[in-house]
Amino acid sequence: MKILITGSSGQLGKEIVAQKPLSMELLLPKRNELDLSNKIICKNYINFHKPDFVINSGAFTNVDLAEKESDLCFAINAEAPFIFANAIKEYGGNLLQISSDYVFDGRKNFPYETKDNRNPISSYGYSKAKCEEMIEEILTPNHQLVILRTSWLLGPQGKNFLLTMLNLHKTKNKLKVVSDQIGVLSSTFDIAKICWEIINNWNLISKKHHIFHRTCQGVSSWFDIAVEIGDIAKRYGILKNPAEVCPIKTKDYLTLAKRPMFSLLDCSGSNGIDNVECQYWRHELENIISKIKDKQ
Ligand SMILES: NC(=O)c1ccc[n+]([C@@H]2O[C@H](COP(=O)([O-])OP(=O)(O)OC[C@H]3O[C@@H](n4cnc5c(N)ncnc54)[C@H](OP(=O)(O)O)[C@@H]3O)[C@@H](O)[C@H]2O)c1
Repeated sequence: MKILITGSSGQLGKEIVAQKPLSMELLLPKRNELDLSNKIICKNYINFHKPDFVINSGAFTNVDLAEKESDLCFAINAEAPFIFANAIKEYGGNLLQISSDYVFDGRKNFPYETKDNRNPISSYGYSKAKCEEMIEEILTPNHQLVILRTSWLLGPQGKNFLLTMLNLHKTKNKLKVVSDQIGVLSSTFDIAKICWEIINNWNLISKKHHIFHRTCQGVSSWFDIAVEIGDIAKRYGILKNPAEVCPIKTKDYLTLAKRPMFSLLDCSGSNGIDNVECQYWRHELENIISKIKDKQ
């Protein structure tokens, strides 16, 4: 089976590749071979290789920069998957699209269900929401699509909140971190595992639903995670003295893009994928930090 993975140099892409089952042949183009912002290249690449599955993990992920470069963000996050979807429909492949809690506005106060209306509040969120809308129209009639939404993705490599905070804990005495945005982290280990479960059981899963949510269990704020990172890293000997973390409000931390104030996803549907729920967020965070320690 031939699988195209976009974004294989990203934090999630790397982990998907690391967990590859033996039987799969992977296509892992770098940006200079498959530039997702170039429609012609996307069309030619997919029509030439005709992969059985595309795991589209590549994306414009800088949420603040997306406010300034909204056209580029839209081209990469929405138009490229749309081109893949049209080609896939023609030759009979399948698309696993990685998506985000940012398709929602964050105005709910209980977990978003897969059937809830999309209502993004940022350019990045808009591009991910439009992507979903455009590809589902093309690919759901023949069960050729699964959309996997996740949130607050962390892993031991790449660019993410965990690695940024570890660095800040090492170099600062005091950190200010937003405490009124509510959500929960996801781990690249768990999401990569779920991606392969979906691919391995495609017929069963894609006929059940076409949208799944997957995150860790529990509830937190970025402030909670920042404190926990310091505590766990100290226990693992990665840090001697974690910084003092001070809670601040979103209104006092100006960013270009608005973020959803509440982004918990109801993951009950995805628990059926592998019969194992993702761990409680503190345990999964410890698991990730232990892997960082192992590499040192
Ligand atoms: N990070 C989160 O908190 C989060 C939360 C929810 C959902 N998601 C979704 O999860 C997926 C994976 O995210 P991630 O955190 O792994 O992202 P990431 O680490 O920022 O990686 C993004 C990947 O996309 C590639 N890419 C960007 N622009 C490209 C272009 N024009 N052509 C080809 N490749 C391009 C990057 O390649 P280069 O190495 O060449 O830059 C990189 O491999 C994305 O779909 C994202 O929207 C992320």
